[in-house]
Amino acid sequence: MTYDLIILGGGPAGYLAAERAGHAGLKVALVEERSLGGVCLNEGCIPTKTLLYSAKLYDGAKNGAKYGVSAEGLQIDHAAVVRRKDKVVKTLVGGVKAQMRANQVDVFEARGAVRGRAAEGFSVLAGETEVVGKRLLVATGSSPAVPPIPGLKEGLQSGFVATSREILDLKEPPKNLCVIGGGVIGLEFASYFSSIGAQVRVVEMLGHIAGENDPELVSLLKADLEKRGIVFDLEAKVTGIEKNGVRYEQGGESRLAEADRVLLSIGRRANTQGAGLETVGVHLERGAVVTDDRMRTNQPGVWAAGDVTGFSMLAHTAYREAEVAVNDMLGLPDRMRYDAIPAVLYTNPELASVGETEQSAAQKGLPFRAVKLPMRFSGRYLAENEGGNGIMKLIVNEKTQRVLGVCALSNYASEFIVTAGTWIEAGLSLNQIKKIVFPHPTVSEILREAVFQYE
Ligand code: NAI
Repeated sequence: MTYDLIILGGGPAGYLAAERAGHAGLKVALVEERSLGGVCLNEGCIPTKTLLYSAKLYDGAKNGAKYGVSAEGLQIDHAAVVRRKDKVVKTLVGGVKAQMRANQVDVFEARGAVRGRAAEGFSVLAGETEVVGKRLLVATGSSPAVPPIPGLKEGLQSGFVATSREILDLKEPPKNLCVIGGGVIGLEFASYFSSIGAQVRVVEMLGHIAGENDPELVSLLKADLEKRGIVFDLEAKVTGIEKNGVRYEQGGESRLAEADRVLLSIGRRANTQGAGLETVGVHLERGAVVTDDRMRTNQPGVWAAGDVTGFSMLAHTAYREAEVAVNDMLGLPDRMRYDAIPAVLYTNPELASVGETEQSAAQKGLPFRAVKLPMRFSGRYLAENEGGNGIMKLIVNEKTQRVLGVCALSNYASEFIVTAGTWIEAGLSLNQIKKIVFPHPTVSEILREAVFQYE
């Protein structure tokens, strides 16, 4: 049989594309070698959020006195936290499987690789089985980057060094964790393991943590994490993995960060090796598939979506890219835009942003003005964050009076940032936004407050 669409990879891009295409009546084959749901469901977004939620409850109880709450004999059972994580993952993977059945998607549980063109389109090998389809969607995702650091390969083999995959399943949490890379993955795990009692040191190559986020919010977050005992070594170049820790150079000196476990989290690379994309001439740049804004590759009949494009490696970006790709296959006009994609660091407090920061707006030469507010201007924030010092910023295009960006360091920031994303995506003016009613009291009201403070 010839499928209308073969999808390589069953993560957020792949399974959502399968769902949408199947629903639209296309006959879809989905090839996935591991578990449906990909990194996001099995070893990324969802598992880390279950861990971080347990840590948040534990931290809340430990620091309950300022809210009039006290507890004795408080404990966190890491093994139980991991068991619950497994249960949540199993439920969600089950949900994806059910969606595949509901949309008549044939799932091939095998490693897939493109073999070349066939009379009716493309030939893919799913394990030993040949699958033929008219169209191809490459959604093979990404894997942790492993740089050529002396001792790293051996460390990964022995288990002393873990990536975000292995660290999720540790039965015994580390006592002394060294995290290489202070980006999203590094900070979320640093936050969890320090909450449950580990000594955590983050070794970061740059002069700051948390990537391209607003530096002022990042420095507040860093101070918060430091207060909780996390140590940051910035401008530190890792030179080797040793038996008892990580060797790095800082300010011309060689130092050793002692550790009983190391987490490697220095970015991810697109999974294109071994996918057979060269057999049909798909153009790659630095190992990632190049697409246009309809998610088309250079080869007619081949689309790509998700981390494999090497760009905006986020599950929610992958969802949208998958939808754009499927709409394009169906002849429905749709284009991928990246202006209003929220980014969230699920630390406690959360750091969420969408659109431009002051820095990126200035770099692009945009005519902008920023409003900066303490989160304490929100009654609900004050009620729930004793001593909290979060801030938020609203960036407005002075000429058009439209919102360019918002960032916030606050509880619930992950939930309310989409409000600002909607304003940006819809191109609403401040005058239009002023007429929108927010529920009171909510932390989200800070957005409305900032809009009214803009003069
Ligand atoms: P990242 O790119 O966010 O951060 C990597 C960090 O490692 C950077 O700060 C970089 O300067 C540093 N680094 C690079 N090489 C280094 C070296 N040799 N020594 C020390 N530091 C070094 O990458 P991360 O944290 O691995 O995450 C990968 C991807 O996963 C990201 O693209 C992110 O989008 C996605 N992700 C998103 C999450 C979220 O949205 N909450 C959570 C987890 C992952």
